Formats: sequence, C-alpha cells, structure tokens
Amino acid sequence: MCGIIGCAGRDGETLDVLVHGLSKLEYRGYDSAGVALSADALDVCKTAGEISELRAALEERELSGTVGIGHTRWSTHGPPTDENAHPHLDCNREVAVVHNGIIENYQTLRDELSTAGHEFRSDTDTEVVPHLVEDELRDGHAPEDAVRRAISRLEGSYAIAAVVAGSDSIFAARNDSPLVLGISDDAYYLASDVPAFRDHTDRVVYLDDGEFAVLNGDGYTVTTLDGEGVEKPVETVDWDPEETGKSGYDHFMLKEIHEQPRALRQCLRGRVDELGGEVDLGDLGDLSPRGVQFVAAGTSYHASLYAAQLFRQAGIPAQAFLGSEYATSVPPIGDALVVGVTQSGETADTLSALREARRRGARTLAVTNTVGSTAARECDHALYIRAGPEFGVAATKTFSSQIAALNLLALAVTSVGDAREVISALRDLPGAVQEILDDSTAADIAETYRDADSYFFIGRGLNYPVALEGALKMKEISYRHAEGFAAGELKHGSLALVTENTPVFAVVTGSDEMATKTVGNVKEVEARDAPVVAVTDGASDVERYADHVLEVPDTHPRVAAVVANVQLQLTAYHTADLLGRSIDKPRNLAKSVTVE
Ligand code: F6R
Repeated sequence: MCGIIGCAGRDGETLDVLVHGLSKLEYRGYDSAGVALSADALDVCKTAGEISELRAALEERELSGTVGIGHTRWSTHGPPTDENAHPHLDCNREVAVVHNGIIENYQTLRDELSTAGHEFRSDTDTEVVPHLVEDELRDGHAPEDAVRRAISRLEGSYAIAAVVAGSDSIFAARNDSPLVLGISDDAYYLASDVPAFRDHTDRVVYLDDGEFAVLNGDGYTVTTLDGEGVEKPVETVDWDPEETGKSGYDHFMLKEIHEQPRALRQCLRGRVDELGGEVDLGDLGDLSPRGVQFVAAGTSYHASLYAAQLFRQAGIPAQAFLGSEYATSVPPIGDALVVGVTQSGETADTLSALREARRRGARTLAVTNTVGSTAARECDHALYIRAGPEFGVAATKTFSSQIAALNLLALAVTSVGDAREVISALRDLPGAVQEILDDSTAADIAETYRDADSYFFIGRGLNYPVALEGALKMKEISYRHAEGFAAGELKHGSLALVTENTPVFAVVTGSDEMATKTVGNVKEVEARDAPVVAVTDGASDVERYADHVLEVPDTHPRVAAVVANVQLQLTAYHTADLLGRSIDKPRNLAKSVTVE
C-alpha cells in the first residue's frame, strides 16, 4: 500500500536512486508516483500513472537537490490524479511529505487548517502533514522539531518521510506502516521495503512504531517521537540484488512460479532430519498448544485453511480466520497459539488480528517471508518461510513455501502420524513441482478456455483451499470471474450457474473416500455439459469424466494439493497472458495491503 523511498548523500545521483527505488516498490502501489528533491528550495515532479509516466515527465524537467524523497501510490483518499499523487506540499512549497497509511483524524485537522487559511490542493489525508509542519515552522521551530511536532498530532497509521527547503536532512517516522533505513559508507536511504535500496547496500535498520529518524549525507539518528535516543541494531539482509530482477522471464509471476523448487528447498534446509523423523525450527519457545488459530488474508488465508486441517488431523483443535473478521470471532481457546500467516508481515488485517489475540492473552507466532517485518517483530516468535523476495502481486512461491513451513510446524508440535514419511514427502516436493514446471500443458488449457464466461474450481479436504486459491489467482490476474468451492457444496445452489461455458477445474488427488466423492461431484457437472479439467495424479478414475487432464506427480497426500496448485498457477498465468493483462501489477491491487 504505497511505497516510500528517500536518499541522502548521493549528490548528483539522488534522482536516479529515487526513481530506481520506486521501480522496485511498484508492487506496493502503482496508480501515481512522484519525487521531491530538496536543497535551498524544493523541486517536485509527480504524475498519475505508473513509474514509466513519472520517468517521462522527468525527461522534460531538471530537478536538483542534495536529498530527496519519492512515492508510488495505491489510492485510499481520492482518485489517482496528478494532484493526489505524493509528495504533498504546504502553502509555501517549502515542505514536501510522502506517506503510506491512513491518517484517521485528517478531517478534523483539515477543517482546522482550512479555517486558519491553509489551501489544500488534493483530496488526500496526507496533505494535512505539510500544512501542520508549515505552522510549526512559522512558530519558529527548527525543521526537525517542526516535523516531530506535526507528526505527534496524527492518529492512525503512517510511514512518513519529509524534506524541508533549506535543510539537508530527511525526517521520517513510523506508526503501523513499515519503514527501514539503508546504511552504506557514504550514503543513507529509507524505504518501505529493502528492495528499494538493496542495489546500494545490504545493511539495514528496521524502525519500530513511535520512532523518528533523521538522515543526511553525514549519517543518521533514531529517536522516539519525543526525542529520546534509541539504540538500533544494524542488520544484514541475506539475499542477492539479482533476486530483485526478472532473470529473463516476461513477468515476475512466471519467474516466481519457476522459483518454487528452490524456494521449497530453502524452506526445508537445515530444518529436517529424515532418518530420525525430527524437525528443528530453532527457538520457537514451548509450542505445545492445546489449540491453534490461524489468522491471515487472501492466499495466506488459503494456506491457513490447509494448515488448520493438518493440525486437526493430528488431533489439535485448529481454525483459520480471516484477519479482518477475527475481532468479531470466537476468542482464543485457553492456551491457544495464534499464528499469523503473512508473506509480507505487514498486512494490516492480519496485524490487527494478531494484536487482538495478544490483547486476549494468546501467544502469537508469525509465519512470514519477511525478516524484520512488523508481524515478525510484534509476535512472540517468528517462523520464516524463506521463499526469497516476491514481487508479482499474485502470491505464488510464497503459498507453496507457507504450506511447507506449516507442515514443518505441524510436525514440530504434534506427534500423530509418521513424521519420517511426511519429511520424505516434503523432501520430494521440489522435484514434484519441477516435473510440473517441465511438462505442464496448462498453456493449452488456457488457450482452450480463454473465452469462458466463468471458471469454477472444486476440491475436498486439502484440495479445497487449493480450489479457492486457483480461483483467486485466476480472477486477480485475468479479471475473469472465477470461484472456488468445496466440491460437495456446489450442488447446494451454485450448480445453477454451471453451463457448457463454465469450465470446472476439479482437483482430485489420491483414491480415498474423499477422492471418490469428488469424482461424484465431477459427474454432476459433466451431466450439465460443463467442460471438466481434472487436475489429478491419476489415482482415482476422475479422468474418465474429464475433457482434459492436468497431470500431478504421485506424491504424499499431505503435499499433493500444493503440487496440484502449481498447475492452477500456470493456468491463471497463461490465461492472463493470452488476454494481455497486467500480470505483475493487476488493476486495483497492491502486494502489501497495509490498510484495514
Ligand atoms: C493474492 C495475494 C493476496 C495476499 C494477501 C495477504 O495473490 O497475494 O491475497 O495473499 O493480501 O498478504 P500477506 O501474505 O502479505 O499478508
């Protein structure tokens, strides 16, 4: 939800650093963008549209300044127009501010400032900030103090960066929205996420809520908003800048689908002992929960539904909740462990559910891809899925890695079933996914059904969350209607929608009773003339009733569904590609959703 970048100490190169950084943050929002450079005066350029539009606008401008800030936006207040693009300015054009988050008391502040004579140029909540700073400067406060005082009046969530004409510093603060500093020998950066400056440094300082940073060409300081010094560790990120490029693939999404075998191996590395049937997840404290509640959103919610089944199979009561609904759901069962599953570690709905769980006295665990993320730092413990950075807005490799990590978690805290067998299945998982990547015929299926009205996905048991995930992937990148169902539920109403123009993807693995029942459901749709695509390992006789088959290698029942899911990822990808969609940056979406 909006990306912020700032750079100090790169005289002559500041603008290039900002624009390059923004291009790495576009996954956070891409409906408008802008930069402000500061020296004796401010130079600002901002425009509606993607970063490419900003680059074009910059070709006609010469901006100068020793420090700078930039922003790529995902609209919350006001449509994506030039005026609503960040940075926002005060009346005198001496203060420029970029912001990620939502200022909840902005209307009160705006009314107060308007009455005092300030003129607003945008519909955004952000614009109150430069005007507040303007008042503080007029009252005689130095720039750093003026920004601090302005920020202390805000309620809501924010990562903010500001520059003031005549000052050589960038001022930044965070509350509930991510902000990280990048430290190199002679320059200093700040951003919503590390990829924005990873090409320049691997040394980072994660800001916490309530902290305030000042950066200039000589260094940086971190204090509380009240000015008390804070000692912050400098950490080193362990992934390569190369991982932030497309490596020859047309889209990040396709690259990330193909990275799954490696990501899965990374997730398992050093954590499993196949011979002894042991799992070592490091220091997660005493995790012997009497119950588990998962909280998550979107794809991570689907991984949570999957995980909840694994725990229930092992005799531990477990439920998955949408983060946005958790506060109105049942309270944690006594001694429950609440697990936040979140790729980014910054999803506001999930963070708010985790905070609610802590308020209710539960222990919390973050299962996340992002070291240093808010979820990782706020929870009692963190389990990293180690998938590497994911830039495509549609989550792919992180879903598979979440399921691998959650399988490990289930093995670590439960004792039912043969751990050796599951570990061996997890070890085989990267190879099974690779087989699909090598041989998939999903591109042909996508071509066959590119003009379908609607796509249905059905599955039971562990294949049910995969049906939901297949539908989510299809709709978010192809913009076509798609729906996932528990296979047995279709006949309770939605079957009325099934026609010869509604392909039904049936995920059927294994040959147990659930598979047999799903085959029964497949017959029901076949009888209504719907084309059927069986996504199957061939263990059941579903192929007899299918028009097409997407093959899944024979694997352990605990992991078969995640392997089948790769076929659905590829189907969605190829459909969207044939339809010419903006695959990595689908309309209206953003990768990291930091507002509720
Ligand atoms: C869909 C997708 C989203 C995210 C959701 C949660 O492809 O990526 O549904 O899964 O916004 O994000 P995280 O996992 O970062 O909490």
